[in-house]
Amino acid sequence: MDAGLTLDGVGVRFGGLVALDDVSLRVPPGRIVGVIGPNGAGKTTLFNVVCGFVRPAAGSLAFDGKPMRPKAHRLHERGIARTLQGVGLFGGLTALENVMTGGRPRAGFVSALLGAPRSDSDERRLRNEAYALLAEVGAADYAHALPATLPYAIGKKVALARALAARPRLLLLDEPAGGLGADDIAELAGHVRGLSGRDGRPCGVLLVEHHMDFVMDVCDEVVALDFGRVIATGAPAEVRADPAVAEAYLGVEP
Ligand SMILES: Nc1ncnc2c1ncn2[C@@H]1O[C@H](COP(=O)(O)OP(=O)(O)OP(=O)(O)O)[C@@H](O)[C@H]1O
Ligand SMILES: [Mg+2]
Repeated sequence: MDAGLTLDGVGVRFGGLVALDDVSLRVPPGRIVGVIGPNGAGKTTLFNVVCGFVRPAAGSLAFDGKPMRPKAHRLHERGIARTLQGVGLFGGLTALENVMTGGRPRAGFVSALLGAPRSDSDERRLRNEAYALLAEVGAADYAHALPATLPYAIGKKVALARALAARPRLLLLDEPAGGLGADDIAELAGHVRGLSGRDGRPCGVLLVEHHMDFVMDVCDEVVALDFGRVIATGAPAEVRADPAVAEAYLGVEP
């Protein structure tokens, strides 16, 4: 059995535009795999295929060796969590409550969302776990703030904490470094490197990111896309040295 996520020959079209063409990759447990590529290369589309937001026209996906047709609202049942490009928190909930929604209440997800968990101990456990995660990512001071009042970098940290609250076996991150300054990116790199072996349970990480240096810094393996096709794959140093990758980024990166 191939543990973790497998994509095999995935293709996506939007009308006449080929957004992904014959894309294959693997994310084994405990590995950090980065997808890079210039604007419009197909990174978010690839991410959306794995999340179930976009249905591929060709190819297949599997998780732990079983065929998978991802459905966005059922990913958590498979142990898959994600953060989206930007921040994407629930605006009406505090940072702490946002993280709590990512957790797995024994009483049921819906009752927790409605603020009516079936048991006080369940709510207390979710709250404690959420606090601990906020502290871990360095956002505990903002636990009771609403998303609109958070500095951008803090919002991204809260979103990461919310994804971690699910104790995922696979974590999907779209542009985790997007919009962050150098200090925040360095801190994030430390968090992401620690993700794959959290709680002694190997978690695979698939991250999609425009920021080349960040990807090279944190990933075990890198897949480079250009115009929807895989143009290079391998260890970060190999991909960085690949002439096709340099060419794809020419004119896009200063
Ligand atoms: N819903 C859609 N309908 C039509 N075209 C789309 C749609 N989503 C993406 N595209 C197109 O598909 C191609 C790939 O887009 P995608 O957003 O996946 O790129 P990306 O690598 O994430 O880019 P960025 O770095 O700007 O986030 C682009 O040409 C884009 O314009
Ligand atoms: Mg994108």
